[in-house]
Amino acid sequence: MLSRKSNLNAILLILFICFNSLFLFVLAQERTQKNIFDETQLKHLKLKNRFFRAAVGENGLINGKIPEEIFKLYDQLSKNEVVNILTGLTMVSDYNSLPDNNQFRIDKDEYIPEYRKLVDMVHKNGANFFMQIGHCGINVQSNPEIIYAPSSVPLPNKNKKSKEMTKEDILRIENDFAEAALRAKKAGFDGIELHGAHFYLISDFLSLLYNKRTDEYGGSDENRARFLIEILGKIREKVGNDFIVGIKLNCEEGDKNGISEESFFKICLMAEAAGVDFIDISGMTWIKERIKNLYYANVGIKLAEILKIPVMVTAGARNIDELNEILNKSNIQYFGIARPLICEYDLLKKWKNGVTKKSKCISCNSCLFKHLGICVFNKKKCNVKYAEPAPFQKINLGEYKITYLPDGEGYTIPLFAYHGSTEEDWKKYKEYLNKEGKSLMSIGSFLIEYKNEKVLFDLGIGNNHFSSPEGNCDGGELLNNLKKAGLIKEDITKVIYSNFHAEHVGWTSMDINGKRFLTFSNADYFSSENEWNFWKDKINEPIGIDSKNFKEPLEGKIKFLKDGEEIIPNLFVKYEFGNTPGSINLLLNAEGKRIWFIGDLVHSDLQFENPSWSYYTDNNEERAIKTRQNILDDLSKPNTIIANGHFINEAFGYLKKEAQGKYKFERYTK
Ligand SMILES: Cc1cc2nc3c(=O)[nH]c(=O)nc-3n(C[C@H](O)[C@H](O)[C@H](O)COP(=O)(O)O)c2cc1C
Ligand code: SF4
Repeated sequence: MLSRKSNLNAILLILFICFNSLFLFVLAQERTQKNIFDETQLKHLKLKNRFFRAAVGENGLINGKIPEEIFKLYDQLSKNEVVNILTGLTMVSDYNSLPDNNQFRIDKDEYIPEYRKLVDMVHKNGANFFMQIGHCGINVQSNPEIIYAPSSVPLPNKNKKSKEMTKEDILRIENDFAEAALRAKKAGFDGIELHGAHFYLISDFLSLLYNKRTDEYGGSDENRARFLIEILGKIREKVGNDFIVGIKLNCEEGDKNGISEESFFKICLMAEAAGVDFIDISGMTWIKERIKNLYYANVGIKLAEILKIPVMVTAGARNIDELNEILNKSNIQYFGIARPLICEYDLLKKWKNGVTKKSKCISCNSCLFKHLGICVFNKKKCNVKYAEPAPFQKINLGEYKITYLPDGEGYTIPLFAYHGSTEEDWKKYKEYLNKEGKSLMSIGSFLIEYKNEKVLFDLGIGNNHFSSPEGNCDGGELLNNLKKAGLIKEDITKVIYSNFHAEHVGWTSMDINGKRFLTFSNADYFSSENEWNFWKDKINEPIGIDSKNFKEPLEGKIKFLKDGEEIIPNLFVKYEFGNTPGSINLLLNAEGKRIWFIGDLVHSDLQFENPSWSYYTDNNEERAIKTRQNILDDLSKPNTIIANGHFINEAFGYLKKEAQGKYKFERYTK
């Protein structure tokens, strides 16, 4: 019989084995988590993330030359984390296939040198570049004499029928595809995507709506796919294996009589067998309907189970959290993204840098049907017009995690708010204003995490609403954003106030059963002694604290910080004066970088460029200006990040010293 001691040993051994297995299981799970910014390999090619800028047609070639504007567009994209780019649709032949808007074409060798310049620029910026090639078919925009299509059918919006292609037409256009692919290779592209969607010629053949043929190119799935499969064969013969060849296909035709999911899957399998390297799923619904999430995720999930080659889904990528979720619950490898990048060319860079805000694009298609390539939100291509509140954003520096937690926003008449500014100035700084011409100020807090320490710097404006003829402030989002950062209010260990203006103290306390309690019940609360003494008896001043929310719950509990004090390892208190009598800033040193958390030292980054502007709430304007001027040199030192809860568009940035004692502010992700 076993003794009690050996029984205990056996139990301990079993527990040890279980614990180890659990640990290894959790570790394996973490390791296999996929991320949208993973590096992957597509055949011989390294892809730095899982996004493809989906094809966006443009007026790309005017009299055989690519205009400067197009170079700028691709330069801007490829410098902003758009590292896999598809060109807009490029025409393979000129037999009545050219739309009338100077779209890209590659039907002659003479265009190769022009594309080579574009490819070299994009490659130099570190991005992969693919040409999308196709033939218009029934989708031709102009009104040519002959419109080639698999069958003669009445054409939407045109007073004529298409011409049923003869066998000769078919073989000629198949050869055009192969020649065009070879020209793309010669121009230096990393690969091509065949446009087999949106009722362009290849999809006309695949379509049940437009292909009424009774020969070997019509009828069954195999017959309707024959044109595509023959094109793929001819292309491979020309370009060899070291060149990526993908295809974009309709998985639905926006019509109940259109292609079925089953047919679509069969066609994809045939394309895979014919040597295609990826399938890009599209359809027709994105043109008509404003769906709020990925249009083709479900069909993509199923297809990725069937195919060995990578599957990409295009349409509706607006939310990075959703993309990562789908990535991890399926074998989908890539996501195409078009309209959000027309809206914000630097969206992927923002996402990569932790700004997880949803795309602004509302899928209205004005950029497609009204002003090609121009978003309703932008005055011109790739230009954000109006100020936006800074979004949730995370920066990791080794063991330190810094997160901006938005709480709300405030708007003020700019001339009222910024003393020293002029009307002329604000004409220059329109992007700091909202549509009504009021200057925007974000309102939010910073969460600084280090091991068990969870420090909040400032507490937003809370559920308060302030309104006056000069402006207004609203808030209430801080706790939701804290949740987004993975924490609850009880996790906070320290609260530090930069100053006691209303938009820094809003979440100090909460009403529970008619009584006021400190919101962050496990935290110690800190300020400077000067600040507390100045404000504690100034009850209900418009810009200051109020007694119920603030003084009563904090009295006797607030602790005072000294200038230079280290609050948690490497996080120091720095006093400054002027905007309030005892304001404090924080300085964090981590991973060779410094982050300056500046409370109300400025209310806008414009005050770096114009340090003599003061803000109407500055307690001592002269002193506030001096303090600001004195610290500019320090803020502009290398490796210094500035964090400010009032900055617009982004809560982090850098300051650069320029000639003649001037300073220039740059947003963190720009
Ligand atoms: C202005 C514009 C031009 C487009 N041009 C093309 C094109 O040339 N080829 C193509 O396959 N799709 C084209 N599309 C469709 C996009 O590639 C993409 O499939 C569609 O916009 C849905 O994706 P999104 O929701 O990310 O925008 C275009 C879309 C827009 C808005
Ligand atoms: S115009 Fe509409 S569809 Fe196009 S990018 Fe802007 S919001 Fe999106």
